[in-house]
Amino acid sequence: MNDTLMLTIAVLGGTGKEGKGLAFRWAKAGYRVLIGSRSPEKAVKAASEIMELLEGTSSVVGMANPEAAEQANIVVLTVPYAAHRSTLESVKDSLKGKLLVDVTVPLVPPKVSKVQMPPAGSAAQEAREIVGEDVEVVAAFQNVSYEHLLGEEDVACDVLVTGTSKKARGEVLRLVEATGLTGWDAGPIENSVVAEGLTSVLIYINKQYGSTHAGIKITGARNQIPESE
Ligand SMILES: NC(=O)c1ccc[n+]([C@@H]2O[C@H](COP(=O)([O-])OP(=O)(O)OC[C@H]3O[C@@H](n4cnc5c(N)ncnc54)[C@H](OP(=O)(O)O)[C@@H]3O)[C@@H](O)[C@H]2O)c1
Repeated sequence: MNDTLMLTIAVLGGTGKEGKGLAFRWAKAGYRVLIGSRSPEKAVKAASEIMELLEGTSSVVGMANPEAAEQANIVVLTVPYAAHRSTLESVKDSLKGKLLVDVTVPLVPPKVSKVQMPPAGSAAQEAREIVGEDVEVVAAFQNVSYEHLLGEEDVACDVLVTGTSKKARGEVLRLVEATGLTGWDAGPIENSVVAEGLTSVLIYINKQYGSTHAGIKITGARNQIPESE
């Protein structure tokens, strides 16, 4: 096992659709995964469901969000936008010096197929304002539908990775690779507005064309994880 796989990933809101799928894929790749929830019981149940799918070959443990954030090296946030600020406030003291991966899309129901960005510019930029400069914040996976994550299938969607430093984006590109998807360094955190906004476009396309998991593919570039700065 290499050093990367010794890392512990906490998935806050990992009881939900997107988080459970990502947790499954990281656990399958050999990472130690913690499922976070507002309810420790719900987290334990989700963790045991993932363990069952993996036939007990990996380590997935459920606990309350703050404990999961405390024990992890990398914290992944997969909650609805309405819970974004409150979840971050509940864990921010545990995040100092760590990497936060924000999967949140700032959807404003009922008009989820219309781009409606928050005043900070994007959910990821808002996260940075909440957690402060001691935390690297990277936005990723916003365009990946949960539908095929919880299984073996290929997922026909690339991952745009934007964030506060090239080093942090490089770490997240490795996490993307571990899920079996293709990630692209898509630049600074300000660019997260595009990835987050694109989700509403994909939801609109799903509605127009009767699909459930429209995705994106980057063409014309050779994929290779860039060297860290
Ligand atoms: N679903 C997708 O295909 C998809 C794709 C790309 C990005 N995303 C983004 O990923 C995030 C999660 O999406 P999802 O579909 O996985 O959401 P979800 O299943 O509706 O919710 C995920 C988890 O968030 C927690 N949560 C829900 N409402 C909450 C509230 N009011 N306050 C605090 N916690 C709450 C719940 O965990 P506990 O009850 O255990 O605390 C829930 O299991 C969203 O921002 C979404 O836009 C989703």
